[in-house]
Amino acid sequence: MDNRETKVILGGTSTIAKNVAKIWLKQRPIKIILIGRNSQKLQAVFSELNNINPLSEINCAELKFDDIDAGRKLIHEIVKSNNVSKVLIAFGTLPNQLECEENSIRLKDALFINGVLPVIYADIFASKINSSLPSTIAIIGSVAGDRGRRSNFFYGSAKSMIHTYVEGARHKFKDSNLNLCIIKPGPTQTPMTESLGLRIKLADPKIVSRDIVDGIEKNKSEIYTPSKWKIIMFIIKSLPEFIFHKLNI
Ligand SMILES: NC(=O)c1ccc[n+]([C@@H]2O[C@H](COP(=O)([O-])OP(=O)(O)OC[C@H]3O[C@@H](n4cnc5c(N)ncnc54)[C@H](OP(=O)(O)O)[C@@H]3O)[C@@H](O)[C@H]2O)c1
Repeated sequence: MDNRETKVILGGTSTIAKNVAKIWLKQRPIKIILIGRNSQKLQAVFSELNNINPLSEINCAELKFDDIDAGRKLIHEIVKSNNVSKVLIAFGTLPNQLECEENSIRLKDALFINGVLPVIYADIFASKINSSLPSTIAIIGSVAGDRGRRSNFFYGSAKSMIHTYVEGARHKFKDSNLNLCIIKPGPTQTPMTESLGLRIKLADPKIVSRDIVDGIEKNKSEIYTPSKWKIIMFIIKSLPEFIFHKLNI
């Protein structure tokens, strides 16, 4: 058993996750395990992170996330041999709403990658982590999961599944030291949003990652980032349907 504090990231190549890892490495010497579906891309992230803290250790593990048996075995090995204090589940896609409306396979994949798989992996970790020690499982959802709107409600449906999972698992683990938390970023400047040509100002992933690290540190259940999205979504969720339906969003 390696007693060093270990942080595990599923979706280790995500821009948001990589920025979180940078902050964690600057804080103190730790062990980080990056899990991703492509070892070459993981290697590139490893090279970017490796010199930040010479007393830290970074390991990479390849996993095809849809191979749940392989994922369960990998997580079992990681939790058995490491003192896992934080898990960040960050992988995801931004599916095209119209393609999903026209193609049920695309829709199934979008729901699976963005909702079903993050919930399955969070729950595997939750069942294996020693909840007598303080630990956190944080999953990246989205503000899109707060209220379905016509332009992206399939993505939103998947992300709202994470919200409900976190709510229920927090109830289940309320007497333990395990914190579960959902992160809800607004639109952020990463490869995921690059091709969209959005006209609104996208959030800086460095700010988003700072909010994530701070929110996890404070044992929050829900992290809106940038924080203004908490107010925006409160207003959007509060709108009566007859007004909401007039909006072109
Ligand atoms: N950017 C935003 O505006 C925004 C807003 C709200 C929520 N989010 C959420 O934030 C999380 C991180 O995204 P990001 O913004 O950091 O984007 P990103 O840099 O594009 O990272 C996407 C991550 O998802 C992985 N991925 C892509 N396609 C996948 C698939 N089919 N199956 C499994 N994994 C896949 C990527 O792995 P590879 O490197 O192997 O492709 C990468 O690790 C996602 O859950 C996303 O939904 C993002």
